[in-house]
Amino acid sequence: MSETMRTISWDCGRITTIDQTLLPVEYRVIECKTVHTLCEAIVSLRIRGAPALGAAGGYGVALAAHTSTASTLQEFMRDLEIESDRIRRTRPTAINLTWGVDRVIAAVRRAGSIDEARKIAISEATAIADEDVERNAQLSRHGESLFEDGDTVLTHCNAGRLACVDIGTALGVIRAAVEEGKEISVVSCETRPLNQGSRLTVWELMQDKIPVTLIPDSAAGMMMRKGSIDKVIVGADRITRDAVFNKIGTYTHSVLAKEHKVPFYVAAPISTFDPTGLERDVTIEERDPDELRRIHDVTIAPADAAVYNPAFDATPVDNVTAVITEDGVAYPESKSWNDLFS
Ligand code: MRU
Repeated sequence: MSETMRTISWDCGRITTIDQTLLPVEYRVIECKTVHTLCEAIVSLRIRGAPALGAAGGYGVALAAHTSTASTLQEFMRDLEIESDRIRRTRPTAINLTWGVDRVIAAVRRAGSIDEARKIAISEATAIADEDVERNAQLSRHGESLFEDGDTVLTHCNAGRLACVDIGTALGVIRAAVEEGKEISVVSCETRPLNQGSRLTVWELMQDKIPVTLIPDSAAGMMMRKGSIDKVIVGADRITRDAVFNKIGTYTHSVLAKEHKVPFYVAAPISTFDPTGLERDVTIEERDPDELRRIHDVTIAPADAAVYNPAFDATPVDNVTAVITEDGVAYPESKSWNDLFS
């Protein structure tokens, strides 16, 4: 992946993206020419990570606009609403997906013709993607000052450029600290069951030549107890006033960090905030039981084992030291924190 390559982009009526299910074995760019293909790519995690899903939502509406065969504006808008609903339903927890869809639909409503609506959809979706890159650059600059030369930083899942349009959130902050000349080593949790940590985070950091050590998720507590972790930084899929939603296992790390007095940071753009929701309102996505019973073709549990497979968990804000956004560093319950929800 080159420094300039975006994870997701619009290319003459198609969405191009990297198939993240194949990494690190194969780097393959795929195309989505229909909303159906896009929805499959989202459900199967070919495209994943909250900010990348925000861009996918926006581009998805552009794709629906591009492929609609409606002959009146009214029919066209009805097509867009139906396709938008399909996109929104693919993954319920990451708020960025719905946010991206809603933003493009709202812009398209201003159009006076189908042609104009298509142009608006593409330009609004492109604006979402461009802004994501800019916002991640800003939040990375704000966050890097929290890290010191010599820090060993634990992260969970993948909040890097693969999870965004570019740069990354948690990994963007780490990259910015390294660019400032600080020596940072990363400890990446493998992130079972789909291994976004071992497959994607370790791959990304190795590409950038940032020192990274892969650990099993269950080794985090032992390492914190030994004093081997200075800070934790993760991304987020949704932030409510009372909780941060992120990949399953994040809550466990936050409890361990609190117990061992390790600062616990969350890096996310403001598009990840849910200004009105509370933890109790949020649907946690439950995924296919076979993700736990099998690894590709290899059976690792009885075929009929009962399974509970939540994709995300909620970390109460009491366990969070600070949240880093493009606007700066916000400490829970501070004025800047409250402003994020007003
Ligand atoms: O199921 P995934 O891989 O989409 O989950 C992604 C995460 O939990 C990331 O940590 C989160 O989206 C932040 S990405 C900057």
